[in-house]
Amino acid sequence: MARSDSVYVCQSCGAVHSKWAGKCDDCGEWNTLVEEAPAAPLGTQATARKTRGRASKLDLVDLGADTPEPQRLISGLTELDRVAGGGLVPGSAILVGGDPGIGKSTLLLQLMARLAQQDARAIYISGEEAVAQVRRRAKRLGLAEAPVSLAAETSLNAILDGLKSEKPDVVVIDSIQTLWSDQLTAAPGTVAQVRACAQELVRYAKKRNCTVILVGHVTKDGQIAGPRVVEHMVDAVLYFEGERSHQFRILRAVKNRFGPTDEIGVFEMGDKGLGEVPNPSSLFLDGREDGTAGSVVFAGMEGTRPVLSEIQALVAPAAFGTPRRAVVGWDSGRLAMVLAVLEARCGVAFGNQDIFLNVAGGLKINEPAADLAVAAAIVASALDVSLPSKSVVYGEISLSGDVRPVGRSEARLKEAAKLGFTRAIAPRASESDHVRVDGVATALELVQTLRAIAGE
Ligand code: TYD
Ligand code: MG
Repeated sequence: MARSDSVYVCQSCGAVHSKWAGKCDDCGEWNTLVEEAPAAPLGTQATARKTRGRASKLDLVDLGADTPEPQRLISGLTELDRVAGGGLVPGSAILVGGDPGIGKSTLLLQLMARLAQQDARAIYISGEEAVAQVRRRAKRLGLAEAPVSLAAETSLNAILDGLKSEKPDVVVIDSIQTLWSDQLTAAPGTVAQVRACAQELVRYAKKRNCTVILVGHVTKDGQIAGPRVVEHMVDAVLYFEGERSHQFRILRAVKNRFGPTDEIGVFEMGDKGLGEVPNPSSLFLDGREDGTAGSVVFAGMEGTRPVLSEIQALVAPAAFGTPRRAVVGWDSGRLAMVLAVLEARCGVAFGNQDIFLNVAGGLKINEPAADLAVAAAIVASALDVSLPSKSVVYGEISLSGDVRPVGRSEARLKEAAKLGFTRAIAPRASESDHVRVDGVATALELVQTLRAIAGE
C-alpha cells in the first residue's frame, strides 16, 4: 500500500510530485517517477531539543586560512591538462561526454597511458568493448607497453570491490551507461541506474582520493544521456566534440569546480590516435583563400588563448516566401541583432535576401567580439567584395551601431601577426606594433569602407 504521505521523485531531474504519473511534467522524461518516503520534517520537537544546547558548536573558520593546493596529476597531454584547469585534481569526478565514435575512448586511453608512464596507478574499465578490442587499439596507438591495468566489467559492485583492493590513483569508466547496480531492478542505461552508479563512483572518488573519469554518451539533441543530475554530481563536465568529417576535435569544459570553463583543447585524429594541436589558428584557417567575398578572419579568444577562425557569409536573393537565416557555429539571436543594426543604422537592406553564416571548421564561437567580423562578412558578401588582403576583424557592435572595444586586444593582434596577417579592422582604441590597425568607431564606418572598396 502506498503511504498517504509519500511523494514521487523524478529520477531524471529530481522534481517532486504528489501523484504518480507516467511522464515527469518538469523534464518530460517517461517512467522516471519513483515513490519515496518523505524526509522527516526539520525542526520537530525531538531534533529541536537535541540541538538546542549545541547551537554555538558550528565551526566557523577564516576565509584567509592557508589550505594546501591539491597536488594535481599532470598528464603531459597539455591540451587536456589546460582544459581540466592545470591537471587532474585527486579525488575529483569528471564526466566526459561526446557523440559515439568521436574519440572519447581513444583520448582517455592515451591519457591513462601517459599517467601510468609517470608511475600513477591507472585503471581503465571498459563496459563497451572486450579486453581484446582495447588491447588492439592500444597496440595501434603504440601504447601497448604502458602499465595501464585493464578490465572489462559492467557490474558496479564488482568494480567497487576491485578498486578498493587495487587502490588506483585514476580510473576511467567507459561508459557510465553500461554499468548496473544489483540494488536496482532497472536495466543498465536507464536514468535510475545511471544516477545510482554515478553517485556511488563519485562517493568512492571523494572517500579514496582517487580521480574518477566517467564517459557519458550524448543523445541526438546534444545532452549527456541519462539524468541531468549526473552533471550536478561531478566536479567537472568536459565535452568532446567535432565534425566527424573533419579530423580535428575540440575538448571543452562546460563545468569545472577546479578551473575556468572557457578553455578549449584542440586535437587532431590521425592514424596514431589523437595528436595535440598547439596552434589551432593555422588549422582553422587551413585551405582558406584570401580575396574570397564574404570570407573574413575573426581574431577571437578561447579562454586564455587567441584563436583565429574564418567566418563565411553568403547573401543571396530569396527564392520564395520568408527569407532564410541559417547559422552554423554562432548564435542566431546575435545574427538577428547584427542584421537589425545593419538595416537600421547603416542603411543596408536584407529584406528579401537569404543569409547563411558559417564558422569554418566546426568551431563554435560565443564571443560578442565576433559581431564586427560577422557584419563584415555579410556586407562583403552582399556587395560582392573581399576585405583588404591579410586582414583580421574583431569588435563588439552595440544596438546603437557603435563598435565597442573588447578584451585582450593585444593578444589577438599578436596572434594575427604571428600567422602572417598585416592589417586589422578593430575598435578605434586598439593599437599594435605588429599589424596596421584600421580603427572603426561605428558599424556605419565599416560599411562605408566596404562600399569604397566596391567603388560605390
Ligand atoms: P573511439 O575512441 O572509439 O570513439 P568513442 O569512444 O567516442 O565512441 O574512436 C573511434 C573513431 O576514431 C573511429 O571512427 C576510428 C577513429 N580512430 C582513428 O582515426 N585513429 C586511431 O588511431 C583510433 C584509435 C581511432
Ligand atoms: Mg568508446
